[in-house]
Amino acid sequence: MQQMQSKDNKASYNEWHRKIKRHGTFIFYFRFKLIKILLLLMRQKDEYTYTHSIRVMRLAYGYAKYYDLPGHEIKILKYASLLHDIGKLAIPKRILSKNERLDDDEYRKIKKHPHIGYLITKYILHMKDEACIIRKHHERIDGKGYPFGLKSAEIDELSKIISICDAFDAMTTNRVYRKKSNLHDALVELSAHAGTQFDKTILLNFFKYINSKFNTINVFKKG
Ligand SMILES: [Fe+2]
Repeated sequence: MQQMQSKDNKASYNEWHRKIKRHGTFIFYFRFKLIKILLLLMRQKDEYTYTHSIRVMRLAYGYAKYYDLPGHEIKILKYASLLHDIGKLAIPKRILSKNERLDDDEYRKIKKHPHIGYLITKYILHMKDEACIIRKHHERIDGKGYPFGLKSAEIDELSKIISICDAFDAMTTNRVYRKKSNLHDALVELSAHAGTQFDKTILLNFFKYINSKFNTINVFKKG
């Protein structure tokens, strides 16, 4: 009798385990599809922001792998970097693709995109961490960033990594209003903002990573 009961318990446990696994697979599948839809919408709206998002994800992911960050952090970094500018879906296209300097009102509007990105992604299952990082990708070490003006200790490491990858990609790609910088000039420009816009230690690590990737010089070593 006791043996039968234990067999029944095992069978119901296996069934329960199968259901959980199936449920987990569905969540993962729908989350993946939702991310894909958001990126396709972004691509329709602004091709540059779409390709920029892919490049920033590759940089951030490569950095995380290079420094062997914990698996769950790599996963968060991957999706947060991929969707870091998704809030731009709510910004008028004429502002996103404007070739001249933005006026005050347009700049005020574009500064809303980290928070809008947070509002969009926080509703995706198991993406709360990514949403919080997306909201902070324009914060600065000196507290002059947006939307909150957080200071260094209040900004998490993953947001700081995305902030550097974001700036590096923006500097090294052509825009209608600005020619791209070469690798060396981009690293020099980034280093000029070490300790004010960017975290010094993470920036130095980023240089080492870029050096390993492109075999360039380490501008910090130049003094
Ligand atoms: Fe952004």
